[in-house]
Amino acid sequence: MNPDPCRRGVLRYLALGAAAGGLPGAALAQTLRVSPREIVQAKDALNVSDFLPIAERTMRPAHFGYLQTGVLDDGTLDANRAAYRRWGIQARRLVDVSRIDLTTKLLGETWASPVVLAPVASQRAYHHEAERPVARAARSHGALQILSTMTNISIETVISDRQGPVWFQLYPTNDTEIAKSLVTRADKAGASAIVFTSDLLSGGMRRETQERLARTDPGDCSSCHDRSAGFADLVKRKAMFDRFDLGKARTLNNPSLTWEFVRRLRDWTEKKVLVKGIMTPEDAEMALAFGADGVIVSNHGGRAEESLMGTLDVLPAIAAKINRRIPILMDGGVRRGTDVFKALSLGASAVCVGRPYIWGLSAFGSEGVEAVLSILDEELRSVMRQAGVTRIGAIGRNNLTPI
Ligand code: FNR
Ligand code: LAC
Repeated sequence: MNPDPCRRGVLRYLALGAAAGGLPGAALAQTLRVSPREIVQAKDALNVSDFLPIAERTMRPAHFGYLQTGVLDDGTLDANRAAYRRWGIQARRLVDVSRIDLTTKLLGETWASPVVLAPVASQRAYHHEAERPVARAARSHGALQILSTMTNISIETVISDRQGPVWFQLYPTNDTEIAKSLVTRADKAGASAIVFTSDLLSGGMRRETQERLARTDPGDCSSCHDRSAGFADLVKRKAMFDRFDLGKARTLNNPSLTWEFVRRLRDWTEKKVLVKGIMTPEDAEMALAFGADGVIVSNHGGRAEESLMGTLDVLPAIAAKINRRIPILMDGGVRRGTDVFKALSLGASAVCVGRPYIWGLSAFGSEGVEAVLSILDEELRSVMRQAGVTRIGAIGRNNLTPI
């Protein structure tokens, strides 16, 4: 996102937040006079971006900055979005499209839709119930939820709310024993896959938009975050760490890890293992060679490297290299059902969304997340009808033209 809407958001937050007496979420939205584009209930949203202005208003500027930021000039963040505009969809006529089936099979599991909830850390920053409304929405929607290592709510509670398995995303820390314990706990709790995130092992690049917005935040961040306490502070409200003596752990990631770690992961669990953060055909091949059951093409929503490579740009070459040997998921900038359709056409088996469901969560809790999932599904169904394709597996490269 370019910084202008952020700046506008901060000003509005300051002005309107004070006027509304700091009301939370939907209540705040209802109290304010809203512009024609802004909505007062989840079902009024025409598209997922309609939740963004409410998210801007309900969050503290520092949290909004953390959510929206890319790195350096936010160029890779923009590249993720721009890539979708370079592909056109072939409209096909006189095909029986009276029934559209979004059922998606992935690694032996069946989901109601190819749209997946990406792992997003620390959801209490966006809603007082944190990851729980997301789990309820995933349940009612039959969607796959990937739970971050940095979840505020324990995986046991999330799986109980979801009434079914989630996938667990792993940040390994610098202590292998903790990594192993995290995997074992997720495995025992009933996670059906472990997603190892590989793109922040070295810490990522500087998040300038986040830092700029944090400087405008009138609140006292130190009442919640104590930077001097280091790793212990970072994980103090993160439920996955509540059972461990933090021992040697000093960092969430570990820049010295190599592909060997994927093989070790394989030994720790019989569940499926995926590597998230893949941006080249070479690394996709390495993931496969070291035993991964799947990969997620991702640049962390433009928050890892400033490569200026959009995920949709790199997807076709990765799909060609993998040649259907393992499933490929992808994420980054998905805001429309047409974006989902394009990613599926270029070789993804499923597509994750990050920020949009957090906008929905912060604005309307579970209903907001459900609305985001429903809107993306409905847009996907309608573009499938126009493209003359009735099931997910039938979407392919022939449905697109470069423009
Ligand atoms: C993330 N993402 C992320 N990924 C991960 O593997 N573990 C995590 O804990 C987080 N946390 C996180 C927090 C926030 C605020 C954001 C925005 C993103 C990355 C996420 O899973 C996904 O790759 C991107 O969000 C996809 O891009 P979009 O849909 O946000 O554009
Ligand atoms: C982030 C990490 C926690 O993107 O995934 O902020």
